[in-house]
Amino acid sequence: MQRERHPVPRHVAIVMDGNGRWARKRFMPRFFGHKQGVDSLVRCVQACSDRGIEYLTVFAFSSENWKRPEEEVSGLLGLVLVAVSKYLRKLAEKGVRIRIVGDRSAVTDKVRAAWDEAESRTAHNTRITLSVAFNYGGRWDVLQACRRALAQGLPPEQIDERQLSSLMALAHAPDPDLFIRTGGEVRVSNFMLWQIAYSELYFTECLWPDFDEAELDAALAAYAGRERRFGDVAPVRAAPAAGG
Ligand code: FPP
Repeated sequence: MQRERHPVPRHVAIVMDGNGRWARKRFMPRFFGHKQGVDSLVRCVQACSDRGIEYLTVFAFSSENWKRPEEEVSGLLGLVLVAVSKYLRKLAEKGVRIRIVGDRSAVTDKVRAAWDEAESRTAHNTRITLSVAFNYGGRWDVLQACRRALAQGLPPEQIDERQLSSLMALAHAPDPDLFIRTGGEVRVSNFMLWQIAYSELYFTECLWPDFDEAELDAALAAYAGRERRFGDVAPVRAAPAAGG
């Protein structure tokens, strides 16, 4: 059978792992790695945009990351403020629409205000949508969607996959075509559990601060060589729309 080649993925999701190890290798504190991680993220947004990727979703802070030492947690929260003040203008000018996904109830008012500003200042941009998952977990997302369905009084027989997808934190994006995890671990770690049902998975040893254009292109080349069947027997040429 001739292999079907896929063009550029519409939606790429990334677990940006390896910041701590990257810093340790340089005898620096872990926070230094996270700081470099923000720079790597901004580079990656540009590289994805240049390649025609329409949606990029990244895991910046998981529901489980609160277990980290307090110093690291507050460092990551502070980094949100630094990242917004350092990069928001540049991203806005480049046509990036920013969305924050996750449980906002646990973060400080300052962080919430920074997110609100990032979202409102970029709401009308159309070049690429960057969704930053912060205090996010895939199970949390399924749960909150179910709770919203119940709160809306939907009868059980009316709740189907499409309906539930529309209540998820990532309802604004199609399901990811390509899921990348850097840092060498081969697991999903509660990221986008519902949405990655048919995503192509790609794992690399590369630590997130080192993830550059060449690494992205290697992931895209691997994706281009995959045959996607979505449970069917015949390969599907193009990625289906959200919920498809
Ligand atoms: C995993 O590396 C990374 C994180 C938990 C945080 C990811 C955050 C960024 C890249 C910064 C982006 C932040 C904002 C504000 C947008 P790790 O610490 O688990 O690394 P390790 O596995 O080497 O210890």
